[in-house]
Amino acid sequence: MKYKAKYSAFGSYVPDKVLSNFDLEKIVDTNDEWIKSRTGMSERRIASDEQAASDLATIAAQRCIENSDIKYKDIDLIICGTISPDHAFPSTACFVQKNLGLKGIPAFDISAGCPGFIYASDIARQFVENGTKKNVLVIGVEILSKIVNWEDRNTCVLFGDGAGAAIISRAQSNDISQIIDSEILADGNYTELLEQPAGGSRMPASEDTLKENLHTVHMQGNRVFKLAVKSMYSTSETVLKRNNMEFNDLDWLVPHQANMRIIESLGNKMKINNEKVIVNIEKYANTSSATIPIAIDEAIRNGKIHRGDVIHMVSFGAGLTWGSVLFRY
Ligand code: UT7
Repeated sequence: MKYKAKYSAFGSYVPDKVLSNFDLEKIVDTNDEWIKSRTGMSERRIASDEQAASDLATIAAQRCIENSDIKYKDIDLIICGTISPDHAFPSTACFVQKNLGLKGIPAFDISAGCPGFIYASDIARQFVENGTKKNVLVIGVEILSKIVNWEDRNTCVLFGDGAGAAIISRAQSNDISQIIDSEILADGNYTELLEQPAGGSRMPASEDTLKENLHTVHMQGNRVFKLAVKSMYSTSETVLKRNNMEFNDLDWLVPHQANMRIIESLGNKMKINNEKVIVNIEKYANTSSATIPIAIDEAIRNGKIHRGDVIHMVSFGAGLTWGSVLFRY
């Protein structure tokens, strides 16, 4: 490793439209009590008909750059984690690059389910540490409201739209901020647990796939739930152990916001004080790859997270994929 990498800044954007549990009661056979007690969610944000993933991502990226002392022209790579891109191709990252006026720099998407931001961060870190890039714009963005089945109460109540961005930069030798370690993992034996079955080359979109709603999110929630705590705990333990740290050494745990019961089980297993766990699931529900950068940006803005704090981000999702990043902000 030639250099150290650090998070220079975060930024985020969520659409204005709020969809509450009570609004959902009018759409599917559900109720506020069930959603709140089973998931911890009260409301979520929904993108407008005109907004695509790159529109949300661009605003989050602009806010992130404004929160930093880095100039637009100094961004030298864009990596976008998303499973609800503008199009299957070209990449959402290319639309963001155009919107930011950064013609020429490389830009690509990562499809890694909810850990998209963790995967993108791990990759960006390699580019910065080996000296190839100096300021990588890393984004987690999702508009799952456009790919859920609004007649399926098992899934449609769970997701929301939003974008979070960060800049991963080369750290100076006297910098307090640095990415300490990260890890990304996958197990392709579980691909059927969480998927969008149609619309790709396995099952091209047809009238039948449309009729059967196969182009929407399909999830075996129970089975995903069981693997979530196990996988998030195991990557967290690995990463902390190999840096001679304990869960108690963390200032903040920022877990993927998929279900409050998963977050609580993880926190309990780690024996970490609830006060140290950043949670915003009640306001935004599960924004997939955007949950973590949105939560961190908010926690910085409301004065919870400070420079020098030791933070552990951990996520899991479709693939199955999972991973974590340990850093000093
Ligand atoms: O982002 C990464 C990927 N996603 C996740 O992490 C999600 C992980 N899974 C979960 O969060 C939970 O499994 C869910 C929230 C999806 C479901 O909670 P659960 O406690 O596992 O419930 P369940 O699937 O076992 O369903 C229990 C009951 C069922 O009724 P019956 O069969 O017992 O009569 C469901 O039909 O709850 C019913 N149900 C609902 N009831 C009211 C399912 N969805 C709803 C709903 N409103 N929206």
